Amino acid sequence: MCGIFGIVTTEEGPLGDLLTAAGRRLSYRGYDSVGCATIGADGVVDLRKDVGKVDEVATRHNFAAMRGRRGIVQLRWATFGHPSQANAQPHLDSDGDLVGAHNGNVVNNVELRQQFIAEGLTVRSANDGESCVHAVERYVDRGHDMVTAIRRAYADLEGDYAFVIAATREDCLYAIKKGSGLVVGLIDGATCISSDLPSILPLTRRIVRVQDGEIVTLWPDRIELRRVADGALVQREPEWVTESMDAAAKGGYTHFMLKEIHEQPQVARELLHLLDASADVAAMVERMRAARHLYLLGCGTSYHACILGAVYMARLAGRAAIPILAPQFLPQYGPAVGPEDVGVFVSQSGETKDVLDALALAQGKGMTVLGLVNVIGSTLMRESAVHLPLTCGYEISVPATKTFTNQVVAFLYLALRMGGHPTAPLAALPDLMDRTLAAIEPQVTALAPALVAQQDLYCLGYGLTYPIALEGALKLKEITYAHCEGMLSTEFKHGPLSAVRDDYPVLFVAGPEDVPRLVSGINETTCRGGRAIAIGQEDARLRANAHDLIVLPDADALFNPLLAVLPLQCLAYEISVARGFDPDFPRNLSKTLTVD
Ligand code: G6P
Repeated sequence: MCGIFGIVTTEEGPLGDLLTAAGRRLSYRGYDSVGCATIGADGVVDLRKDVGKVDEVATRHNFAAMRGRRGIVQLRWATFGHPSQANAQPHLDSDGDLVGAHNGNVVNNVELRQQFIAEGLTVRSANDGESCVHAVERYVDRGHDMVTAIRRAYADLEGDYAFVIAATREDCLYAIKKGSGLVVGLIDGATCISSDLPSILPLTRRIVRVQDGEIVTLWPDRIELRRVADGALVQREPEWVTESMDAAAKGGYTHFMLKEIHEQPQVARELLHLLDASADVAAMVERMRAARHLYLLGCGTSYHACILGAVYMARLAGRAAIPILAPQFLPQYGPAVGPEDVGVFVSQSGETKDVLDALALAQGKGMTVLGLVNVIGSTLMRESAVHLPLTCGYEISVPATKTFTNQVVAFLYLALRMGGHPTAPLAALPDLMDRTLAAIEPQVTALAPALVAQQDLYCLGYGLTYPIALEGALKLKEITYAHCEGMLSTEFKHGPLSAVRDDYPVLFVAGPEDVPRLVSGINETTCRGGRAIAIGQEDARLRANAHDLIVLPDADALFNPLLAVLPLQCLAYEISVARGFDPDFPRNLSKTLTVD
């Protein structure tokens, strides 16, 4: 997830160290490139940027020497354009009269770049941050003032983003918010703007939160907020924040995991916008359609997304896909793999060794490698013939949450496209996820105390909820340290049923289509004294047969898995915290496993 920070001061002075420090404070968000621009009192821009860590780039390009009255620092998490110096931000307009940087994704970047080139503007990179600058430039060139030009640009730039921009001939900074975070800081003799609070807090605690659809102009001694829609002034009193740096980095949540759970609706929204505008979707669908055998490969959470992907492909596109744990690919299918086959490799990090080993085998056999990957610039991304970015930003907590959601969203989207179905109904999904989180949290809080002391659980699902049961069990194992086995509900009677005794907890994840089958499983458990906890939509049969029911909002059966995983993530989180563990950094586990 990119981060931007800008500052406007009264007098020209050294800004490099201040901007580097602000960059360091944004770095927890994840990034691959760093850039700084300062503008002197004479309007001359000093722009330095490169691929690498904040301190490496700052040393290599001597940020410490940068001076100015205004400054911008940007940390880039690549989506459009590989990590490179040209694609790093900030960017200049054609003549160097404007300088700006953004955070987020401009999903019509490719089309806009073509328009800018056709209009004679100088486009120097593939990056969508540069498109923000040119989008303003073209209206400035037509004689508009900066506020009007930015308001027009806002209408042209599709997606979820925020950007900051300066005109060299003026003495202020402008910023605009559409979906990504943006906060103003009021300092004595200066004002600043940032993607988030932590980069501002050491400078000031007087802040103004910018809302979506607002444009803010910053001078050293004041700011002006306007609505983009009609240009009307907005009055908003500054607030005084008391949060610690650590709390601010966690967005007010007690752990990164909880923050990342709550980010899921928004990252899904952003991914859907991106996919709607992506030419890579068609390229991927075409290769998947043409495949002799289609394999879906991953490990851990990413593998669970692959299973759900296979269910979606069969249901929506009539296409059999084979989900397989990446390290089992060679022994199970290696001898049968050939150049006509296609593998979709799924990985948050893009660096998991088990996945990369399977990828090497696939490449050795001439198979087409496609990727679903969160970390841009990762090995998987580079090795994929076509990849789709998961656009989740940095997932800090070891247990994967938001990346699972977007892996599943990407599979659902691909399956709909493969089957020739419209993808528009997916637009309802993020709001449904928001409603689900609001609805299930009190229910999970009420249930969790009953499970805190349990050392042994099962989590069962069927059909579309089978992979969710596996994922729920993995979350519980990872961060509560209890033994929790995920299983197909119908398999439970073939062995594990013998473990059931009084109060033995079994979670049943029920899809709306499979309630009768789940009810049978519930009764096999309860008649032996077990405690059946159902997760599903409101249903008299579940209510009558299970001890507990966590109620999900009514939704299409295809959407239900993406909702059902939320209470399981929250339940694992609550039990982990109640047991005194740190869910973000569970013992013995690592976010990215680059070993066998
Ligand atoms: C590790 C992590 C898991 C993750 C798995 C696969 O085991 O702890 O959370 O699901 O690796 O990671 P990947 O980056 O390939 O998705």
